[in-house]
Amino acid sequence: MLQVNKIVIGCDHAATGLKAKVIEHLEELGVSVTDVGTYSSDSCNYPLYAHKLCERIQSGEFKLGILICGTGVGMSMAANKHKGIRAACCSDTFSARLTRVHNDANVLCFGERVVGFGLACDMVDEFINAEYEGGKHAKRVDMITAIEEGHFELLK
Ligand code: RB5
Repeated sequence: MLQVNKIVIGCDHAATGLKAKVIEHLEELGVSVTDVGTYSSDSCNYPLYAHKLCERIQSGEFKLGILICGTGVGMSMAANKHKGIRAACCSDTFSARLTRVHNDANVLCFGERVVGFGLACDMVDEFINAEYEGGKHAKRVDMITAIEEGHFELLK
């Protein structure tokens, strides 16, 4: 079951083509999509778009986001520097689902140079349909937050 009816998406110049297709796919599912850019294939810097997207999640406006670059790796690195953001770079559907269920990931990252359109959409479907399980996983997610906040004494 769809866990969100709106989502925020961003990319760099290496992924505008795949982003357009993913947006079309999401809209066909009835999900409203906000695109923070980039909007052209002119060379740009992916951390800027990771930041634009993460701000919209940190503010509470969106629960989930999608970031696409050449590999997905740079986007996930930049996104994970933001408080409260748990970004997962995936190239398989199992990880895309489990990162919601176990890690409460709020940003899915992948690469246009790594995955095709079909796999990208399948990963997006898994990500937006999966629900965070909490329970024993909550302590671990809390430990990630503790690291983020420098409370290393909570790591037991
Ligand atoms: C851009 O050439 C490329 O470095 C970027 O899209 C991404 O793959 C970085 O992780």
